[in-house]
Amino acid sequence: MSAKTSEGAARSVPTEAEVVARVDALLGKMSLEEKVGQLTQIGAADFIPGPKPEDVIRRGGAGSVLWLNDPVKFNALQKVAVEESPSKIPVLFALDVIHGYRTIFPVPLAMAASWDPAAAERAQSVAAQEARAAGLHWTFGPMLDIARDARWGRIVEGAGEDPYLGSAMAAAQVRGFQGETLGAPDRVVACAKHFAGYGAADGGRDYDPVFLSEAQLRNVYFPPFQAAVDAGVGTFMSAYMDLNNVPASGNRFLLKDVLRGEWGFKGFVVSDAMAVGNLVVQGFARDGRDAAQRALSAGLDMDMASNTYPQHLAGLVADGSLSMADIDAAVRPILAIKVRMGLFEQPYVDETLLAQVVARPEHREAARVVAQRSMVLLRNEGGLLPLSKTTKNVAVIGPLADSMEGTEGSWMVFGHTAAAVTVLQGIRAKLPNARVEYAHGPQIKRDIPSFFDNFDPSKIKPPQAPEAAEAAFQEAVATARNADLVIMVLGEEANMAGEAASRSSIDLPGRQEELLQAVVALGKPVVLVLINGRPLSIVWASEHVPAILEAWEPGTEGGNAVADILFGDANPGGKLPVCFPRKASHAPLYYARTLTHSPEGSPMYNPRYWDGLPTPLYPFGFGLSYTTFVISDLKLSAAQVKVGGSLTVTASVTNTGAVAGDEVVQLYIHQKAGSDSRPLRELKGFERVTLQPGETRAVAFTLGAAELGYWSTRAGKWVQDAEAFDVWVGTDSTATLHADFEVIG
Ligand code: BGC
Repeated sequence: MSAKTSEGAARSVPTEAEVVARVDALLGKMSLEEKVGQLTQIGAADFIPGPKPEDVIRRGGAGSVLWLNDPVKFNALQKVAVEESPSKIPVLFALDVIHGYRTIFPVPLAMAASWDPAAAERAQSVAAQEARAAGLHWTFGPMLDIARDARWGRIVEGAGEDPYLGSAMAAAQVRGFQGETLGAPDRVVACAKHFAGYGAADGGRDYDPVFLSEAQLRNVYFPPFQAAVDAGVGTFMSAYMDLNNVPASGNRFLLKDVLRGEWGFKGFVVSDAMAVGNLVVQGFARDGRDAAQRALSAGLDMDMASNTYPQHLAGLVADGSLSMADIDAAVRPILAIKVRMGLFEQPYVDETLLAQVVARPEHREAARVVAQRSMVLLRNEGGLLPLSKTTKNVAVIGPLADSMEGTEGSWMVFGHTAAAVTVLQGIRAKLPNARVEYAHGPQIKRDIPSFFDNFDPSKIKPPQAPEAAEAAFQEAVATARNADLVIMVLGEEANMAGEAASRSSIDLPGRQEELLQAVVALGKPVVLVLINGRPLSIVWASEHVPAILEAWEPGTEGGNAVADILFGDANPGGKLPVCFPRKASHAPLYYARTLTHSPEGSPMYNPRYWDGLPTPLYPFGFGLSYTTFVISDLKLSAAQVKVGGSLTVTASVTNTGAVAGDEVVQLYIHQKAGSDSRPLRELKGFERVTLQPGETRAVAFTLGAAELGYWSTRAGKWVQDAEAFDVWVGTDSTATLHADFEVIG
């Protein structure tokens, strides 16, 4: 079937009053069963047991479908919905499009490393255009969980450790996915997830409980979510885990008091997959009926795939445990989004559209530029990088060097086959006349496969026999020995970070570090390119490998972007959005901690650990360039500012090197005393600037009530104290250019 939609076609976005009238009219004719259907999201993948999706849709039993990725099937199901279901309400098709649909962008942690919200917006706008052309209406992104524990696998999906950077990335991604207004014809509805606190799982173990004070929630974990609301995000997803002993999916404080009450969110909340049913598993709800009642009452509108709402909501209304008004309140925002998206007028997708949209050259170009901008140069002793393009004899070594899956990274779109340009391919394309030899080295693999690996057993690798691993090791060393320059591409495979991909170690998995040591021992120039989705413990490399480039999981054009940077066609300007701990046992580790009675650098200092430094190997905000920058002229518009007022902080940044490059100028504050003790540094402004050699630029930041206030544990509310502050401007979270100011009452 090729029902027509015209992507980008002018469609007037309905007014609020029109949406309400349309929703009222629909609600007026819907049965209770149909209403419950709208609150039900069903999985349509072949592996899901139960009735056929078309049969559920035919009786009005599903408002949304996930885990399906096929325009032909979308149209077939939609036809059943709009022609055969009782009220002919179209289905909302949803999928996880996290960092690209067909053109894959760097993983979100990498996008955050660009410190360039416009780049993240561009990436997600391309993702949205491709996803919409494939017939999808709704993505389960952006993921906004602050993550300060490198062991937690899902750190790859978010923007790292910091609420300020995280908020900027949150708003940018919402704009990218949704466009100017919710309902844009070539965009998708975004979903802010996982609300809230998921990144603080005990021990970094995925799904495990979270205990966070209200002050931590409000000052650190909530801000990106509030930024998403302010940017107009259409939907929210509740998190899986227990938050202070109340599962997030049955948590009224989160879903009603804060989200709707305080922030004025008008969209709808979907549970995470199976999370409503799992309220029983979590020892919270007595049974499915209790789970349905408690989730809906807490403000959870749509049940993702647990089948608990369809089993119990109608009964709960029939016996008066829930009212029809409760049900209507949950259905309204779901219908409203369908109206805004224009699905009643244009329920189908043009099945020829995707091929045209993914073929746009600007999509691949954007993927390459965003990948370049997200890479972080961690070390460059003796200016080894950039490499000369006249290099004749190169060895490219490591299990990630020619892995399309590893290059595209975590969260592959359901049904997608990786097709990235690998680092090996990128280097070969850059050096057409050189000899570029490749060796994989010993295999790396997870010790324990995840539930998701089991979906595709063909991807589960049998363990490599020790003899085969040894042979691969020796072959790699021999390949290096024959070269003039060695590029090691090490890190983690795609399934080593992400959901159910936490680790108790953050070392390079397998024999990679041993191989690196053996290659470095040959005495050749060695460059280390890291492909990975979390901070890794690379202490040895940081002392022995002259050049280290953190390329993250860089996406479709990743290999080209790496080659662009290694050979000087692009100058790295990314900065770490999360600190790199020396070892996993230091997690959680983050720069914005509070001072203690025994601060670093004071005569009172007592070691935090007696077996090594607790400081990060690379601090938050860190990243080098092929040029050098000097930041100077720190000036404040006033030495004092009244509570509620604002002041301007200015500084100059100069490119003092020989090539053009980018610097991210960062502003940190510290409140010296107050109602509560405050973090020793907090990011409150940043700007990525591009400067020609010798060029100077002034940057200006505003500090007002939003930057200087905080949620106080002692006061139990938002406060702004009249106190003294430090301010630093520099190029990472250890910046030293300093000034003081005072907030006065
Ligand atoms: C994940 C979500 C995801 C959902 C739907 C869950 O397992 O936690 O992030 O959106 O599945 O695929």
